Amino acid sequence: MVIAVYPGSFDPITNGHLDLVERGARLCDRLIVAVLENESKQPLFTVAERMEMLREAVRDYANVEVGSFDGLLVDYARQKGATAIVRGIRAISDYEHELQMALMNRRLCPSVETVFLMSSEAYSFISSRIVKELIRLGGNLTGLVPPSVEVRLRNRVLKGV
Ligand code: PNS
Repeated sequence: MVIAVYPGSFDPITNGHLDLVERGARLCDRLIVAVLENESKQPLFTVAERMEMLREAVRDYANVEVGSFDGLLVDYARQKGATAIVRGIRAISDYEHELQMALMNRRLCPSVETVFLMSSEAYSFISSRIVKELIRLGGNLTGLVPPSVEVRLRNRVLKGV
């Protein structure tokens, strides 16, 4: 039984993240999409809201579940019995930071392997940050985030609810 953790901020989930969920779910028996709880960045959505959006978005995948974690990712992975961490690489600019994290996680816990997946090129330019900027500036989000996430983004950014 291969269990993998796909960690991130997911503030909010994008179609790029979802593409990785689909690819990751095919490679393991159980994929846990895990939201980091205590981030230094000021998130737009609470952890509970982000988990709710994730649950809605992954509900068609039988082997995918949503969780959250605080502290070291490798401790969470160990606690869940995971042997792999899934991360996405969109462009070469992601690589340096991802490599640093992967090597640090390997040093902390050699039995957990980081697996990098490439999202579809159709999503290679999408990030949560750029999606939030787009909505603030009145851009069209069709195809970039799930429809329910678009509604929540509009409500939060444009109406403050
Ligand atoms: O979506 P993000 O913001 O790129 O995700 C970053 C995340 C959550 C994967 C990373 O910040 C993380 O794993 N934080 C947990 C703290 C930790 O384990 N640090 C040691 C390894 S560098």
